Amino acid sequence: MARIGIFDSGVGGLTVYQAIKSLLPAAHYSYCSDNEFHPYGTKADEAVAQRLLEVCLRFVAAAKLDVLVIACNTASTVGLDLLRAHLKLPIVGVVPAIKPAAEKSTTGVIGLLATPATIKRPYVDELIRRFASHRHVVRAGSSRLVELAEDKARGKTVPLNLVHEEIKSLFIEFSDHEKSVRLDAVVLGCTHFPLLREELLAASPWPVLWIDSGSAIAARVQHLIATLNLEVGPSPELSTAWVTQKDASTWLLKPLMEHFGFRTLLELPR
Ligand code: DGL
Repeated sequence: MARIGIFDSGVGGLTVYQAIKSLLPAAHYSYCSDNEFHPYGTKADEAVAQRLLEVCLRFVAAAKLDVLVIACNTASTVGLDLLRAHLKLPIVGVVPAIKPAAEKSTTGVIGLLATPATIKRPYVDELIRRFASHRHVVRAGSSRLVELAEDKARGKTVPLNLVHEEIKSLFIEFSDHEKSVRLDAVVLGCTHFPLLREELLAASPWPVLWIDSGSAIAARVQHLIATLNLEVGPSPELSTAWVTQKDASTWLLKPLMEHFGFRTLLELPR
């Protein structure tokens, strides 16, 4: 029975979980949110990498995982090598969908919306150099959108003006040989952001393609499960979600977690 673990600093990984579950509905899933150290996107690279290793060691042991998915761009773009050096199981990371956005853009101007940490990573510079050197890439880092997605997951309304403030710097328009050129695709380079899809659509100055990595990661996990010959389903156990700190705010997540099929919410053993 394939036990797939999905890790994120918060609720963002649920967007990746959804994509994986649509391809592998009968697999056994565990979810881990490092809410104690959240947010990752404002912290130093080394601190994020060390914390990722520490929590994932605990998660893999508690949930007895076969496959670990790091459903967090901020963690994946800095911590995968360290994680792979210490953990034996297959690990799938998530990286911003620069390549598909560069391919799909017809105007040649694309945006990268991610955490302040991710937009500065050498890993991201390299992705742009390899796949989007023929494109103009505008970057915007936002931690506030991460918090707004966390609020939404706890049942709060997201003010559209705040979303607009965070994305407006991406919407550039300039003249090229007397033609007006506009950005037409935005990479959602943080797994929290697809949770705000409706708000992003409503707050955009003009329609663009919003591209995330969920389906690409799901396809990789499906391929991995087939290559490893792991059996999938039917799951005899209820799916469990783990948090690194149980507090009043965690309790507010219960309805959403249940909606996603995680009936049990536990504190990750130390
Ligand atoms: N969900 C995470 C990502 O994909 C980041 C959120 C945070 O800042 O903790 O980058």
